[in-house]
Amino acid sequence: MDINSVKEQARLKMKGFCGACKVCDGNWCAGQVPGMGGTGSGSSFKNNYESLKNIKFVMKTIHDSKNPVLKSKIFGKEIDFPVLGAPITGTKFNMGGGVTEEEYCIDVIEGCKKSGTIGMIGDTGDPACFEYGLKAIEKNNGYGIAIIKPRENSEIIKRIKMAEKAGVIAVGVDLDGAGLVTMKLFGQPVGPKTIEDLKELVRATKLPFIAKGIMSVEEAKMCIEAGVDTIVVSNHGGRVLDYCQGSADVLEDIVKAVGDKINVLADGCVRSGADVLKYLALGAKGVLVGRPLIWGSIGGRVEGVEVILNTIKNQLFQNMILTGSQDVNKIEKTIIKK
Ligand SMILES: Cc1cc2nc3c(=O)[nH]c(=O)nc-3n(C[C@H](O)[C@H](O)[C@H](O)COP(=O)(O)O)c2cc1C
Repeated sequence: MDINSVKEQARLKMKGFCGACKVCDGNWCAGQVPGMGGTGSGSSFKNNYESLKNIKFVMKTIHDSKNPVLKSKIFGKEIDFPVLGAPITGTKFNMGGGVTEEEYCIDVIEGCKKSGTIGMIGDTGDPACFEYGLKAIEKNNGYGIAIIKPRENSEIIKRIKMAEKAGVIAVGVDLDGAGLVTMKLFGQPVGPKTIEDLKELVRATKLPFIAKGIMSVEEAKMCIEAGVDTIVVSNHGGRVLDYCQGSADVLEDIVKAVGDKINVLADGCVRSGADVLKYLALGAKGVLVGRPLIWGSIGGRVEGVEVILNTIKNQLFQNMILTGSQDVNKIEKTIIKK
């Protein structure tokens, strides 16, 4: 099984939902939420793609970075490369039902673990989705992370406790899910959080707490004030607010302002090792990969997820050699030009 056969299988099984396009830039699926696309005009998904694409590498070939180090540490765990599986839900209404919710969670959690990294599970209007995710994590001895929708705090804390019971590595909230159409469809109340709300959530657990969906320096600083362990610079794959900046547009300023006080991860259009390296050069400690894991699961189940991640890992290794980068934990800003 290689990445082309995984994508081909996914394309066949996701007819009408995803083109598994050669260039996954948000054009084919624009406006498809529910579905695989970005919301409205699809511009926020496209901006993730464009802002990354416009960053170019400075090639370097006279150096001794022959065997770059890809290992890093996150939430106290050593991972083989700094790429985590993003939380994703809604196999039926977003992906066309090529796998069940239960199968998807197992594929991602196990596929990530087998590739030497950590997968996340998400939350949606159907409460069963979160439970399937926790079951997959429990089956893998707690090796996974749970991201909960910005429900009422009492509902979030209930789910944090369930996640703790499953033995998860970390918990968090996708704050950018505050106005999600898919939650509305299920009649589930979600909304924005105040700093006080966030403080209450951080206090509710001893686990590292993640705030996913931070796109400004101001809100990154608020997360520090609330005691958040890690932020994910993300516009939710362009699915929540049309005409949003791309993650790569805002990441560098956020890292400059808060990078020494809080862990900063990023996501949006990570499709290759080059994309990972660009986000690392902008200052991220690691990245999340979303849609490609859907192709992996639907196109090749656990092995498909592994194929996707291992391909990205190998590309990252090659690209580090060609930019003279020795260690993923010390990527120089000078390897890129905007
Ligand atoms: C179909 C679909 C479902 C998603 N569901 C969730 C979710 O339940 N929770 C969440 O935090 N993010 C969710 N996301 C956002 C991803 O976690 C991630 O931020 C985004 O997909 C990254 O962009 P990429 O797909 O371009 O890599 C979803 C994304 C997609 C495409």
